[in-house]
Amino acid sequence: EKGEYRHYMLKEIFEQPVALQRTLEGRLGSVADLDGLFSENADLLHKVRNIQIIACGTSYHAGMIARYWLEALAGVPCQVEVASEFRYRSHVVPEGTLFVTISQSGETADTLAALRATSSPNYVGRLAVCNVDSSSLVRESELVLLTRAGPEIGVASTKAFTTQLAALMMLVLALGRVRGLEQARIQTVLDEMRQLPGLIQQVLQLDGDIEKLAEDFVEKHHTLFLGRGTQYPVAMEGALKLKEISYIHAEAYPAGELKHGPLALVDKDMPVVAVAPNDELLEKLKSNLQEVRARGGELYIFADRDAALQNEDGVTVLNMPPVPECLIPIVYTVPLQLLSYHVAVMRGTDVDQPRNLAKSVTVE
Ligand code: M6R
Repeated sequence: EKGEYRHYMLKEIFEQPVALQRTLEGRLGSVADLDGLFSENADLLHKVRNIQIIACGTSYHAGMIARYWLEALAGVPCQVEVASEFRYRSHVVPEGTLFVTISQSGETADTLAALRATSSPNYVGRLAVCNVDSSSLVRESELVLLTRAGPEIGVASTKAFTTQLAALMMLVLALGRVRGLEQARIQTVLDEMRQLPGLIQQVLQLDGDIEKLAEDFVEKHHTLFLGRGTQYPVAMEGALKLKEISYIHAEAYPAGELKHGPLALVDKDMPVVAVAPNDELLEKLKSNLQEVRARGGELYIFADRDAALQNEDGVTVLNMPPVPECLIPIVYTVPLQLLSYHVAVMRGTDVDQPRNLAKSVTVE
């Protein structure tokens, strides 16, 4: 039930602290708890030399973020592809590949078909990161990591995405553990993960400010989302949310690609949303943002309050709490969910059931 909330989507956005708490519960006490993640198949992780992630839509964005983490923390090569492409092309399967599907519903036709086609002996196992434990995807995979987000009714995926990321981080740490990532580093990340529900709670308090900011987008026809590193997939997720429920055309670019084409689109009618945590890419991002400003583009920046970005003419800064690096993509997704929600409400669209879309895409 929606209870006090006007839409399921809003309820599900606000449920994220609790959903994340559930996803992490019993799994993060200590480094040793990571062994329990795949108790029946614990030794399988030792055989993993490569990861292939397959998913669609929002779940694909979670996979893209996991790739940054897997290569940086666990040192495992990783490829990520949308299921509808992967299943119809011939591809090489490196030896020792773990096949990972990510899906809220566990019934997405293309993702399931890709799983069912994994016949190569080079696969060491199939892991489903999924929110529905009775789903086909879970039944047909030998390893399962449930996201425990609870039922997601709104077509736009919100709490499923952030819990997928939390579950994927646990996979990264479990793999890192068998591949020599230092215990102390793992412990630090585990401790930081425990701050996640509280941090999301803080960001949810920005709802009123984000609603105000949303007014600027209502009459627009296009929006550009920019991010670097793990914030690039976060920008893609922000753009997907906006087009899906508000029907405003939105695109996401890695900020470094601006000069290679999209900068030509920037003018006063093209708002640019940037995700600017206080990470090692901040300085580079700032110079990309100046390029946008110089072309008259209106900037909306979700920035770490320590990043010293100021509101000025044409630049609106929304201050975010400082966030440990590994949690950045999870935390910065939330304001983008709220932004698209409020824009859609103001435009009067059917937020929970956008036109032409189904919650679960069970046919091709
Ligand atoms: O159930 P799944 O996670 O497999 O669904 C994948 C996509 O259909 C889904 O994420 C879709 O893109 C959402 N409507 C996005 O909000």
